[in-house]
Amino acid sequence: MNEEYILQLQHIRKEYSGVIALKDVSLELKKGEILALIGENGAGKSTLIKTCSGAVIPTSGKIIINGREFTSMSPQLAAENGIAIIYQEFNNVKGLSAAENLFLGNPIKKGILVDKKAMEKEAEKAFAQLNIKINPKTLAGDLTVGYQQMVEIAKAIMQDAKVLIMDEPSAPLTSAEVESMFKVCELLKSKGVSIIYISHRLEEIYRLSDRIVVLRDGEYIKTLITKDSHIDELIHLMVGRDLKESYPPRKACIKEDEIVLELRNVCGNGDKDINLKLRKGEVLGLGGLVGAGRTELAQMVFGVVRKTSGKIIFNGKEIDPKTPREAIDCGIALVPEDRKRHGVLLGISVKNNINMPIYNKISRASVINSKKEQENAKKYKDDLLIKTPTLNQLVKNLSGGNQQKVILGKWLAANSELIIFDEPTRGIDVGAKFEIYKLMNDLVEQGKTILLISSEMEELMGMSDRIIVLSEGQITGELKKQEFKQDSIMRLASAVKEVKNEN
Ligand SMILES: Nc1ncnc2c1ncn2[C@@H]1O[C@H](COP(=O)(O)OP(=O)(O)OP(=O)(O)O)[C@@H](O)[C@H]1O
Ligand SMILES: [Mg+2]
Repeated sequence: MNEEYILQLQHIRKEYSGVIALKDVSLELKKGEILALIGENGAGKSTLIKTCSGAVIPTSGKIIINGREFTSMSPQLAAENGIAIIYQEFNNVKGLSAAENLFLGNPIKKGILVDKKAMEKEAEKAFAQLNIKINPKTLAGDLTVGYQQMVEIAKAIMQDAKVLIMDEPSAPLTSAEVESMFKVCELLKSKGVSIIYISHRLEEIYRLSDRIVVLRDGEYIKTLITKDSHIDELIHLMVGRDLKESYPPRKACIKEDEIVLELRNVCGNGDKDINLKLRKGEVLGLGGLVGAGRTELAQMVFGVVRKTSGKIIFNGKEIDPKTPREAIDCGIALVPEDRKRHGVLLGISVKNNINMPIYNKISRASVINSKKEQENAKKYKDDLLIKTPTLNQLVKNLSGGNQQKVILGKWLAANSELIIFDEPTRGIDVGAKFEIYKLMNDLVEQGKTILLISSEMEELMGMSDRIIVLSEGQITGELKKQEFKQDSIMRLASAVKEVKNEN
């Protein structure tokens, strides 16, 4: 037995019908280290870590925990052996309190009754240990995603986990929440807990990890010592080629005097008095903190939520879309941020999802033109590098990032005049990000118009022609390309708050 390692995966192979997700992958996790696991969408990261909890049973290979050998795990075995996993789409019960979630499946009892008071007290202790401020009585559904995740981490710690595995934990978090999660990770590390951390954000990998394991196409590629490695090398190992630039160049294509979308004094639940104009061929970036009202703005234009007052003018005519269908018919598409809730139907195929918005166009008397259906799906599979064995694969069997690409394909296929992208590259690997940016360029060069919502400052500045910043539902400023600076955006993003604080 090797004393140094808490967890070893040896020669793990996983086959699904038609897909080999993992081929002979091995890795070792040292005691008290943070090990990053990286790779493109579909590389096999989630599949690999799921073998540690029994959510995936390997076709062959060994899992060694503290010297004990297993050929497969179960959730109970994993818990008994000190392994806790926070999944890519984690699940806590929204209708239960933070404390109840913490003790889910293992409540403290007084006789035959559940002892709520005792659980709340213990929860308070657990949160205090991690320096996080959560009221144990709050319903999980009322907590921000960041706090929900902290509850999951606290739960892992209470179960005395020696190994904590986190699959893209930062993807749904705000930057402040990411900071507090990092603090918790550091704290756990100092207590001797080992962590496997999966993320597509390479700057996080550099901040947090001691070593990095790279996977590509289901194969183990290399282990690197973080402080001795360089980001370009990392990208090369992941993608299998160099990526020279982050943002592809774009031809000038803005038609100054053709206004595609105009909002006049538009108000919603949170949004107040929004005025903006979007010119044909332009990429207008919307900046701001999470909760600034950008998604609401997008949803009002797309008919998901109703505006309470003001005017939406599209191509010179006032529109008032009451449903997404009405917006689509006008020529508007929205690529939503929350893929599980609004974006994609998991139980149906890649082909059906991509064609969904255009079935009425490619059908006659209820008969679908299957050639067009196939061609259309294939085009977006190729353009977006969607990794799937066939177009008939169910979307639920794709990796998280590839599901995201299917949503993109679906809305691109709709061939709309105005496309609103809400956090389009969340969970997308670096190589595919570049392809998505190229596609956006193609769209505007073809005369389409883009509204881009992104919390990634780099992306917002790299892709937009102009940026409008929102804070607490109001526009706080506008920046032209030559004025783009992270500081300026951040200042505008918290502008309203500052005024309030001074009072
Ligand atoms: N139940 C399943 N049936 C068929 N194929 C599957 C199944 N689960 C996963 N796969 C395939 O296994 C491969 C690896 O997927 P996995 O989810 O591990 O990727 P990942 O590295 O986590 O990607 P991402 O960064 O997008 O989350 C993918 O090609 C995926 O389509
Ligand atoms: Mg994954």
